[in-house]
Amino acid sequence: MGNNRPKKITVVGAGKYGSTAVQRLAGWDIADEVVMTDIVEGLPQGLALDMNQSRPIEGYRTLVTGINDYEATAGSDVAIITAGLPRKPGMSRMDLLAVNARIVKQVTEELVARSPEVTIIVVTNPLDQMTLLAADVSGLPRHRVMGQAGILDSARFAHFIAERLGVDVLSVRALTLGSHGDTMVPVPSQCSVRDTPLAELLPENEIDALVERTRAGGAEIVGLLRTGSAYYAPSSAAAVMARAVLNDEPYVAPVCAWLTGQYGVSDVYLGVPARLGAGGVEEILELPLTDRERHDLHEAADAVRAKVAELAELVVD
Ligand code: APR
Repeated sequence: MGNNRPKKITVVGAGKYGSTAVQRLAGWDIADEVVMTDIVEGLPQGLALDMNQSRPIEGYRTLVTGINDYEATAGSDVAIITAGLPRKPGMSRMDLLAVNARIVKQVTEELVARSPEVTIIVVTNPLDQMTLLAADVSGLPRHRVMGQAGILDSARFAHFIAERLGVDVLSVRALTLGSHGDTMVPVPSQCSVRDTPLAELLPENEIDALVERTRAGGAEIVGLLRTGSAYYAPSSAAAVMARAVLNDEPYVAPVCAWLTGQYGVSDVYLGVPARLGAGGVEEILELPLTDRERHDLHEAADAVRAKVAELAELVVD
C-alpha cells in the first residue's frame, strides 16, 4: 500500500454475514472495489447489482463485484472468509468441522494464488480451528491471518453493561479475550464507564450475569431468529478489522491472533488485544491482567489447543 494501486477487498461467502460486511465496507467508500464471491450462482451478482444501485442515493463510489469464481479477487489487499455451512440437524460437531475445514482450505488456496500479499480475516466457525487452518494452508506469515471473535464479544458485553446501567453505550469500555463461547475470557479489570471501573458500579454477581449473557450472546440471537445466526454486529466487527488493515489505521482491538509468548502463551491462535494495520496484526498488547484473568486465558489456550488437535485428526483433502 502507500501507492496508487486500486484498493480491493474480497469477501468470500455472500450469505448474511458476508453480504452485510460487503455493504458496510462499500458504504464507507474506503476501497475502489469490494469483490463478493459465493458458490451459489446469481446470489453475489444479484446482491452486488442491488448494492451498486444504492451508491447514487448514499453518495459513495466503491463498486461491488459479485462472482462465482476467484478471477476478480486478484490483487486483494484484504479478504474476509465467511464461507461455510451452518450445522444441520443430525450433523455432529465433527461433521461440521470436516465440512467447513474443506471449504476454508479450498477458499484460502484460491485467494492466496491470486493475492499473495493479502491479509486474511476468518469468521467461519469453528473459529479457532478455521483461523489456524487458513494460516497453515495460506503459507502467509501468521500476523497476516487473524480471526474475528473478541470485537463482537466485547461489543455485546458493552451493550449489556450500557443497558443495565442506563448509560451512553459509547461511554462503556468492555473487553473479552480468549475466544468465543466457553473459551471466552471476560476481563472486568479492563472494563469501565467513563473511566470508573465496572467493579465500582455493579456488584460481582451482576457483572457475572452480564458475562454469562455475553458468553451466550450468539445463542440468544439464534434462539430468537430460529433460522440463521447473528450478522449485524458480527459483520461490523469483521468490517472494521478489514478497514484497519486497508487504511493502515492503526486500530487496537481484541482479535484472534497467533501468540508467540505473549501472556506466557505460545503457538496458538487466541483472542488478545492487538494493534492492526497494513501488516495485519502489527503488535500484540500485553495488558496487566489479574491472576484470575491470566489463569482463565491460559485455560482458554489449552481448550483451543485441544480443539485444534481434533482438526489434525481429520484428513482435509
Ligand atoms: N465458496 C464460497 N462460498 C461458499 C462455499 C464455498 N466453497 N461454501 C458455502 N459458501 C457460501 C454459501 O453459499 C452461503 O451463501 O457461504 C455462505 C454462508 O452464508 P450463511 O449460511 O448465510 O451464513 P452466515 O450467517 O453468513 O455465516 C457465515 O460465519 O458466524 C459464522 O458460523 C457462521 O460459519 C458461519 C459464517
